Amino acid sequence: MKLALGCDHGGINLKNAIIDYLEEKGIEYDDFGCFSERSVDYPIYAFKVANAVADNKFDFGILCCGTGIGVSMAANKVKGIRAAVVSNEFGAEMTRRHNNANILCMGGRVINEEMAVKFTDIFLNTPFSSDEERHTRRVKMLADIDNGTFSTE
Ligand code: RB5
Repeated sequence: MKLALGCDHGGINLKNAIIDYLEEKGIEYDDFGCFSERSVDYPIYAFKVANAVADNKFDFGILCCGTGIGVSMAANKVKGIRAAVVSNEFGAEMTRRHNNANILCMGGRVINEEMAVKFTDIFLNTPFSSDEERHTRRVKMLADIDNGTFSTE
């Protein structure tokens, strides 16, 4: 498994804690920045990670900003990305099982490092419920929205 990581200054504390976890588990990753607490613009890092994941160069992405919201908004504008803001264990599990999320977003001003590592562990170890037709159907609808072929009829 290989992960793409990114953050802004508001999420660098969480990203660094996640890096420690990944090192301990021997999980491969590339870090797309930022690399300090100097104020930066979150769309830059979200776009880099989202493109890397959409190009299938990575299995998943993890993005952290102050709330997790800004990076998720930016990432979800990239075709093929299903980025989810997570702030509890249930969400970390269900966004993999039901939404087949490919980017986990978290907020450094919302949760602490321990929670971020826990949610990362759950996210990475939960499969998509691909054997349940309703979930594959709904995720396909998300792809259809991306492709401009979705119809509510
Ligand atoms: C930066 O101050 C903050 O706006 C950013 O980290 C993020 O929370 C945006 O959604």
